[in-house]
Amino acid sequence: MLKLSQLATAVALVVAGNAAFAGEVEVLHWWTAGGEAKSVGELKTIMQGKGHTWKDFAVAGGGGDNAMTVLKSRVVSGNPPAAAQIKGPALQEWAAEGVLANLDATAKAEKWDELLPKGVADIMKYKGNYIAAPVNVHRVNWMWANKAVLDKAGVKGTPKTWDEFFSAADKVKKAGLIAVAHGGQNWQDFTTFESVVLGVGGAKFYSDALIKLDQKALTSATMTKSLETFRKIKGYTDAAAPGRDWNLATAMVIQEKAAFQFMGDWAKGEFAAAGKVPGKDYICAAAPGTDKAYTFNVDSFAMFKLKDAAAQKAQADLAASIMGTQFQEVFNLNKGSIPVRLNMDMSKFDDCAKLSAKDFVATSKTGALLPSIAHGMAVKPAAEGAIKDAVSQFWNDDKISIADGVKNIAKAAATK
Ligand code: GAL
Repeated sequence: MLKLSQLATAVALVVAGNAAFAGEVEVLHWWTAGGEAKSVGELKTIMQGKGHTWKDFAVAGGGGDNAMTVLKSRVVSGNPPAAAQIKGPALQEWAAEGVLANLDATAKAEKWDELLPKGVADIMKYKGNYIAAPVNVHRVNWMWANKAVLDKAGVKGTPKTWDEFFSAADKVKKAGLIAVAHGGQNWQDFTTFESVVLGVGGAKFYSDALIKLDQKALTSATMTKSLETFRKIKGYTDAAAPGRDWNLATAMVIQEKAAFQFMGDWAKGEFAAAGKVPGKDYICAAAPGTDKAYTFNVDSFAMFKLKDAAAQKAQADLAASIMGTQFQEVFNLNKGSIPVRLNMDMSKFDDCAKLSAKDFVATSKTGALLPSIAHGMAVKPAAEGAIKDAVSQFWNDDKISIADGVKNIAKAAATK
């Protein structure tokens, strides 16, 4: 048995030991909406619990374009943050610059290869080495609906096809309410677009057109049909949509001002933060025509090479925490996503998350588990940006004919 004085010395040693390795982690992210901020706050709490100092580097702007611009200027000036929210093929580009830290020691100790779906682990690796830690799996092809609004408008059931959707939307309009809550920012236009392409053309067509960027698919009759459907949706949005943030569009659905929103399940984080319950207050359903497919968006953090030993220890702790069960549960409960770590207990998650988890597994077996192009998972940033602009121009300018819209998007897809 230790005597009290010995115990005090031992405690002092442990504290001193920790202090020697307590570092500051500056973390760049774009999670500033209600549910998002709550989620990232959980990571901060875990890191502070390990004795580290959290320096929040939040750059507002859904979808992260602003954050990526700021990140580039920080790295170019030789002053990168310890960690940054970077995902998909962009990770490969950053790694090729030689600025990212190798996370293999943490990944090996924590058995990431066993805990991650192989497809996700591959995205986190550059030349076989881990360069990022994944936090979640967001599903993008969702449609959110307010139950009370649908009841008021006399809409029975949730629309499963685009025809059913437009007839429901007509009823909502007739009832004097907004059918589609939309935030008119290019990445939100693009988010709706990819769900329309998936719903109209199916998984194989989505893959050919928006992952392989096959010119034949991009200029096909199915793409024409997709653009017709996409343009038709605009007629159901309100005049104040241009420039609106995504979470304000979600708020319109929450507050019974609008019936539907097409958005990834970070929108669920807003419903949850407002105390709303799926099935009772709101409905989560796959966007029309997409229930057998799944567009995924995996958020991840990359660490930048830093010299300071304490900072490196903090980075390793951050990476390990991100993949830990405690964080994976509490973060994803708030964020609207599901854990990326396999074999997690899902009992605390709601029905939308359970459906997402079930469909993630099911679609991984049928080839209908697809990377989201609108959220940086499918193609290189240059092509993604060009297609996003072409899609958004088409959405915003009714004078662009469908034929020209198809041509412009196909041309943008050829950007290297
Ligand atoms: C996505 C990101 C999500 C969510 C959304 C809106 O790109 O992956 O986590 O935050 O933007 O900001």
